[in-house]
Amino acid sequence: MISVVVIGSGNVAHHLISAFNNNETVNIVQVFVRNLEKGIENFPNEKITHSFSNLKEADVYLICVTDNAIASVSSQIPFKNKLVLHTSGSVPLNHLDSKNRKGVFYPLQTFSKSKTISFREIPICIEAEKEDDFALIEKIAKAITLKTYSIDSNQRKAIHVAAVFVCNFVNYLYTIGNSICEENKIPFEILEPLILETANKIKTLSPQEAQTGPAKRNDTETINSHLNFLTDTSQKEIYKILTKSIIDNGKKL
Ligand SMILES: NC(=O)c1ccc[n+]([C@@H]2O[C@H](COP(=O)([O-])OP(=O)(O)OC[C@H]3O[C@@H](n4cnc5c(N)ncnc54)[C@H](OP(=O)(O)O)[C@@H]3O)[C@@H](O)[C@H]2O)c1
Repeated sequence: MISVVVIGSGNVAHHLISAFNNNETVNIVQVFVRNLEKGIENFPNEKITHSFSNLKEADVYLICVTDNAIASVSSQIPFKNKLVLHTSGSVPLNHLDSKNRKGVFYPLQTFSKSKTISFREIPICIEAEKEDDFALIEKIAKAITLKTYSIDSNQRKAIHVAAVFVCNFVNYLYTIGNSICEENKIPFEILEPLILETANKIKTLSPQEAQTGPAKRNDTETINSHLNFLTDTSQKEIYKILTKSIIDNGKKL
């Protein structure tokens, strides 16, 4: 069994702890929770610590905290030459403290505590300085997913930027769509089949092939009538920038 101490109690820690529950390869021996009042759902309280000085010895320390805190948390681990991993899409490997061996275990998915998710299909991006450490991280990852990738810090940053476009920005566009629906007394659920089909299409077509809409067709009259319809300045700006980008991209082809 590979013993793992998880550090953090947020979205990612919560999902990883639950994914490794009763696992045959990985045993979560302890979880560090900063906030004295917070526990972890379905994880025994006696295995939780609130103090770095009480951290148990383990094979691996899995840091699942805010990006800004990763370096300082890694420096507070009271051991040397252990394998310490973080789960961030954008923090470079070398931000981890050098007294321990460094690695990355980046699960490429959007996690919210309130939404259950299966890890089986979630890509886990792995990076390590040493081959043996890479193999150990891969073993941990394969205990919960079918998809593991060797990704260096630069590639991981590129993935994270791409992910901001395809996930965070797209979700924000849903927020805009939702408020336009609300303002016009239309249930947002009417758009759900369209949202799902748009996401599903890229399984069989490239994003460029799947693109439709007034900007793709260069339907200027429709575009202008949409811009006249929009009253919110920021929504207008977003509409203009995306429309221009789709038209320019079409010209390049
Ligand atoms: N959420 C995602 O979709 C996602 C996906 C892939 C990777 N990641 C990465 O996973 C990591 C964790 O993200 P998350 O979404 O789980 O964040 P989160 O839900 O905001 O949780 C952050 C955790 O970090 C702890 N923390 C913050 N500052 C700390 C400090 N100085 N010392 C000790 N603990 C500290 C917080 O403790 P308190 O509760 O006490 O504030 C909390 O437990 C990040 O590196 C993120 O980039 C996130």
